[in-house]
Amino acid sequence: MRLNAFSVLLFAGTAFAALPASAAGELNLICSADVVICEQMKGDFEKSHDIKVNMVRLSSGETYAKIRAESRNPKTDLWWAGTGDPHLQAASENLTAEYKSPMLGDLQEWAQKQAESAGYKTVGVYAGALGWGINTDIFTSKGYKEPVCWADLLAPELKGEIQIANPNSSGTAYTALASLVQIMGEEPAFEYLTKLNANISQYTKSGSAPVKAAARGETGVGIVFLHDAVTQIVEGFPVKSIAPCEGTGYEIGSMSIVKGARNLENAKIWYDWALTPEVQSRMKDAKSFQLPSNKNAEVPKEALKFEDIKLIDYDFVAYGDPDRRRELLERWDREVGSAAN
Ligand code: F6P
Repeated sequence: MRLNAFSVLLFAGTAFAALPASAAGELNLICSADVVICEQMKGDFEKSHDIKVNMVRLSSGETYAKIRAESRNPKTDLWWAGTGDPHLQAASENLTAEYKSPMLGDLQEWAQKQAESAGYKTVGVYAGALGWGINTDIFTSKGYKEPVCWADLLAPELKGEIQIANPNSSGTAYTALASLVQIMGEEPAFEYLTKLNANISQYTKSGSAPVKAAARGETGVGIVFLHDAVTQIVEGFPVKSIAPCEGTGYEIGSMSIVKGARNLENAKIWYDWALTPEVQSRMKDAKSFQLPSNKNAEVPKEALKFEDIKLIDYDFVAYGDPDRRRELLERWDREVGSAAN
């Protein structure tokens, strides 16, 4: 068949029209992990796609609040990372869109379960357990006893030596609150948090800030995800990670497409890409040492294995419920947060 210039143009036009409507263009993304991995993900994605990523870094609770506030007129297309509970809360409020990625079958059971329980309005991207990072220099020079159990953090010598984030803004701190309620029961957990308040110097906005402060010698203890303590150890700071003796909670870091996303096709492209083993195996290059959700991704040698930590059977359904979140945070504000001001 001979093609004249007109039919070539027509053919090219048809072929182009067959591509997804917004395969090029933009993607408005909120990243709720550490800023270093957020920047790496954005850079890698832009290198391999003709899509500009407009990214902001916000903590998990802040993102949930933003997506709720924008629900009538969404500005965000995709929410990558951050603890799973607020992703589940958003899914339950229909703020996120159902999507079954072709990558789903390659994911760990916990990541698939996360998706299934939310009607496929979110999916697990990584997992990590909660614990503490302590500054070993401070502990040695001040002669403090290293904490082993949650109860040890109440020692009077640790007055002003502990930092944790605020559970309203931070997914890490919400995980800590929900974990303590599950470990101790609600009344004893709030009694514990009220006593612990005497030892807290600061409730930070972001979840990993306390262990960054511990690394710099500004505080003795940070209550954080253990992988965030490992990051500081790998950076060469005098930090030790400790998993509490009574047991501890964990996160299933998640990803969701916002309902009504303006750049829906581009959001799906990122979603599928972020679930690939190549992308997840590269997280360690940004010193992000969570356990990846893709079964074929490389588990970083620095990552703490779940088998080595006493984990509770964290109830994601109960604590991923928006009403339970509201109840716990209102009580925290009343009994703990207000006393901190
Ligand atoms: O820094 C990484 C990380 O700990 C993630 O594993 C987690 O999902 C996220 O930060 C939580 O951040 P925040 O507590 O600020 O919501």
